[in-house]
Amino acid sequence: MNEQNVQQNAEKRKRVFSAIKPSGNPTLGNYLGAMKYWGDMGKAADALFAVADLHAITVAIEPKDLRENCKRLFALLIAVGIDTERDILFLQSHVPAHAELSWLLNNYTMFGEASRMTQFKDKSKKAPDNINVGLFDYPVLMAADILLYQADIVPVGEDQLQHVELCRTIANRFNNRYSPTFTVPVGKVPTYGARIYSLSDPTAKMGKSEGEGDGTVFLLDTPDVIMRKFKRAVTDCDTCVKASEDKPGITNLLTIYAAVNDITVEQAEKEFEHSSYAEFKTRVGEATVEALRPIREKYEKLRSDDNALCELMKSGASKAAYLARKTLEKVYKKIGFVRI
Ligand code: TYM
Repeated sequence: MNEQNVQQNAEKRKRVFSAIKPSGNPTLGNYLGAMKYWGDMGKAADALFAVADLHAITVAIEPKDLRENCKRLFALLIAVGIDTERDILFLQSHVPAHAELSWLLNNYTMFGEASRMTQFKDKSKKAPDNINVGLFDYPVLMAADILLYQADIVPVGEDQLQHVELCRTIANRFNNRYSPTFTVPVGKVPTYGARIYSLSDPTAKMGKSEGEGDGTVFLLDTPDVIMRKFKRAVTDCDTCVKASEDKPGITNLLTIYAAVNDITVEQAEKEFEHSSYAEFKTRVGEATVEALRPIREKYEKLRSDDNALCELMKSGASKAAYLARKTLEKVYKKIGFVRI
């Protein structure tokens, strides 16, 4: 390799890929664990983001809900800062290469590896009458999503790291069996917010499917609802606003405050040194309301024009499909398929 090549490689922009499933209403957990950072990522890297609609049917979902969830999430991703001119934003099902690569990668994924996925085990327990093959195969489709775009970095919340690890295993196995084909990606979690817990049960993850209970703050909740949820947040019988293992409720609220304001948990603790729990909870609620207000406003504008949204979906899909095809063709050839 000559000096110029070395320099070009060193300067090559990293590629970032991440996705979110339209399985319910996006939550503050989705935002602080992942979406909040996606808008800025395209400044320093080539960024691609997908609404992972194929992943959403592994649990039962009504057709009208799937349609609405996809449009809502697509608009929300723009509202949180993804720039559709600079970044590539698309719906996974609009790029058939995802399903195709997923089938191919199934053959380089061991049954035992997929069986060990915590999310598969958890979801199987929650819906024992719908343990379908799609649920089992879910991380392989996720690997296809990432590997199609030769992503270097996959920004996710903590619960997705195990899936990114499996993706690395599959990529390495394929590269070793044939020749280097896939970039082996790394998962990246934020310092604060990688795991946001439910406000009503701070030992459980804040999840989209938790229903309309007070434990989950949704990105599109009105300010009143957000304040009510924070005011009812479970704390403990102490009075001191300090993060520690035996104070999961307070620790979760401090984490939310720190992540929302881009400060450290220690700085947040200092701010509330002399505050009562009630005052503290109100301030965390207010900070969240203010952080989400511009997102909500932008979202509402975007949702008022369905055609414009549809055009953005088309243009994102065509840019993504072009890149995805390049990788997929390479993979077919390496395996030995006849290409015409
Ligand atoms: P999903 O839709 O469950 O979540 C989207 C992102 O939000 C993060 N997240 C959280 N972070 C902190 N605290 C929480 N309580 C919380 N809940 C969710 C998730 O870690 C995730 O980063 N399988 C993925 C979607 C996907 C994907 C991919 C991600 C499909 N293909 C390829 C990365 C790369 C999922 O269901 O995320």
